[in-house]
Amino acid sequence: MSEPLRIGLLGRGTVGGAFEALVAQQADSVAAVTGRRPEISGVLTRSVGDFDEIMANSDVIVELMGGLDPAKGMLERALIEGKHVISANKQLISRHGEELWALAGDNGVQLRFEAAVAGVVPVIRVLGGSLSGARIERIHGIVNGTTNFILSEMARTGADYETVLAEAQRLGYAEADPTEDVAGHDAAAKIAILTRLAFGTSVDVDSIPCEGIERIQPDDIAYASELGLSLKLIATTERVGDGISVRVHPVFLYPGHPLASIGGAFNAVTIESDDITEITLSGPGAGGPQTASAVLGDLVAIASGAVTEISPATDPLPIVTDTESAFYLHLEVEDRPGVLSQVAAVLGDHGISVRSVVQRGLGENARLVMVSHRVSDASFSAALTQLSGLESLRAEPRAIRVIEEDFGS
Ligand SMILES: NC(=O)c1ccc[n+]([C@@H]2O[C@H](COP(=O)([O-])OP(=O)(O)OC[C@H]3O[C@@H](n4cnc5c(N)ncnc54)[C@H](OP(=O)(O)O)[C@@H]3O)[C@@H](O)[C@H]2O)c1
Repeated sequence: MSEPLRIGLLGRGTVGGAFEALVAQQADSVAAVTGRRPEISGVLTRSVGDFDEIMANSDVIVELMGGLDPAKGMLERALIEGKHVISANKQLISRHGEELWALAGDNGVQLRFEAAVAGVVPVIRVLGGSLSGARIERIHGIVNGTTNFILSEMARTGADYETVLAEAQRLGYAEADPTEDVAGHDAAAKIAILTRLAFGTSVDVDSIPCEGIERIQPDDIAYASELGLSLKLIATTERVGDGISVRVHPVFLYPGHPLASIGGAFNAVTIESDDITEITLSGPGAGGPQTASAVLGDLVAIASGAVTEISPATDPLPIVTDTESAFYLHLEVEDRPGVLSQVAAVLGDHGISVRSVVQRGLGENARLVMVSHRVSDASFSAALTQLSGLESLRAEPRAIRVIEEDFGS
């Protein structure tokens, strides 16, 4: 007869409900592997359960409530009282991970959070385990399924952002208030956690530059696809010199990039290191049963006695804001001779060389769409300002970053 592993479950919504069902379904196999038979010994929601009672009757606290308060206070108390903790709460881990990891270390217990980033995609475990010996140079992630679904649907149907967002809300892929997802804040919390694991340094989530997908136009997606590019909302963390750059923005990818083929609500993370070239992990980034499976994986690790310690953060690394990137540039121009050379002169003044260009439409509809080679953000932004002042431009220029790496070629 295996010893019970008593679970205090905080939150029984989409993930908590699925986790409860999964524990019942998998209890025998977890017991066979770990020697501990998991059982839910108490549940807390807004309407049922008592936290003190749950604490008195559990060995592990599984937090699937979300939000900072009361989750933070409850998890602090659980760690101080020697309970292992599992949480899927990216907001809490990204903002207060440091304090919680320290409490876990001081009290000799585990704080696991695989489901907090990219759902069931095991990126936390890979960074903390298989790749813990590699010097990571860069991580690019599609870590928000809502935005990936919206961008994929915009590309597939040609519909505009508002139409596809409404459809995503109808299908349950987007919240009634989608701001957290579409403005990139959810992705920022996740890339802050990955930054801490990859580079050992804490970043302030609120200082991460975030550009969302709300202003993406269907014709940008269509024109760029003629150049072989597909659009994703990408969260990036990378070493730049002695510092790091952490950011979230829409990015075009060439077909050979491993993230280019990730469609729908899937998540994927590409981890780059000189030692390993790149590793890409992909899979469902959300969903009750999927996320619950990552939570159960953490529970099995705890029941097996696996220990993963997060060492204290290093001194903060300098945050680099002026990075280099290639850019997609969309110009609505007057249809007359000499315009292309005017544009080329501005780009040349700022050291911007063009990799590809397409000219589309006539008269009122004339467009110049081009992709540059890598250039600093500062130079590109200065060129944009100068382009905006050209009288041959009929609208503000539109620009979107492009990742040039193409591991497939
Ligand atoms: N949904 C996903 O696909 C997904 C994927 C990855 C990570 N996550 C993370 O998993 C966590 C849970 O997400 P979810 O989608 O399952 O949320 P949810 O469906 O809204 O469920 C939240 C649960 O927590 C309870 N709760 C919330 N505030 C509480 C409070 N102050 N006191 C007591 N109980 C409280 C709710 O109680 P009531 O039932 O009484 O309202 C509900 O049972 C979040 O941190 C989320 O970011 C979710």
